Amino acid sequence: MPLDIQAVRGILPRGGTILGSSRTNPIKIEGGVDRIKDNLAAGGVDALIAIGGEDTLGVARQLFDRGVRVVGVPKTIDNDLSGTDYTFGFDTAVNIATEAIDRLHTTAESHHRALICEVMGRHAGWIALHAGMAGGANVILIPEKPFDIDRVCEYVESRFRTRYSPIIVVAEGAHPVEGQMALQAGELDSFGHVRLGGIGEVLAKEIEKRTGKEARTTVLGHIQRGGTPTAFDRVLATRFGLQAIDAVHAGDFGTMVALRGTDIVRVGLDEATSELKTVPVSRYEEAEVFFG
Ligand code: F6P
Repeated sequence: MPLDIQAVRGILPRGGTILGSSRTNPIKIEGGVDRIKDNLAAGGVDALIAIGGEDTLGVARQLFDRGVRVVGVPKTIDNDLSGTDYTFGFDTAVNIATEAIDRLHTTAESHHRALICEVMGRHAGWIALHAGMAGGANVILIPEKPFDIDRVCEYVESRFRTRYSPIIVVAEGAHPVEGQMALQAGELDSFGHVRLGGIGEVLAKEIEKRTGKEARTTVLGHIQRGGTPTAFDRVLATRFGLQAIDAVHAGDFGTMVALRGTDIVRVGLDEATSELKTVPVSRYEEAEVFFG
């Protein structure tokens, strides 16, 4: 599809994709890489700009190793790519989750229940950390720090003692310290990732059992990935786009555009994808100050 003015008019406030592309693993498909090369050649495409997270950009890196001229753009709600301070999509997801938590406070003021809000983020707790802090959560549970269910129940009870309902924000990848609770194993996708989701329900049952208080779960799921992007994400995506085109013109392939402070820089796709950027202990400790 030639991306002329008519084709891209009106996409600024839209989320998702006008191309209809989605995360898929061509390396797992026989002859997948050759088909990509043939299609690029047939379409007269000089360079490929891959926009996505660790999976998409991991494939982009492998395509570059196999001779495809690729530049990456970091886009994922998970914010878990190394080399960039932020990925676009993250701020939108955080704002949607924060608004949901704000709305849960209304129920929290009148009902005596523990309210659990499960957010996405895969193996990184960024969305939970930011939305939980912004939304004034009673406790935030992230994959980087296995939680102690006894401690969580103490926080829950202390919040009840202040005549308010506890709001617990749990990342889909969060898990208890080994052996504390039975968890379900999900199916694997084509990148070998387990399909996450469901920890909120498990947690609710456990809190009810241990505290005798009713616990309810809200799973935000794909709501967090849809709809109109925030101004921050629109500006970031636009700047990434400009810089990605510059990288192509400069012939700087195998790189990803990245945000460092307020500047856009280029980093190697290998640096961006070899290790996940997870929440550092010090950031979690800041949030912990407000638990209970
Ligand atoms: O990587 C982005 C993400 O939204 C994760 O937060 C989530 O675990 C996953 O994708 C969900 O993917 P799918 O819609 O394919 O189940």
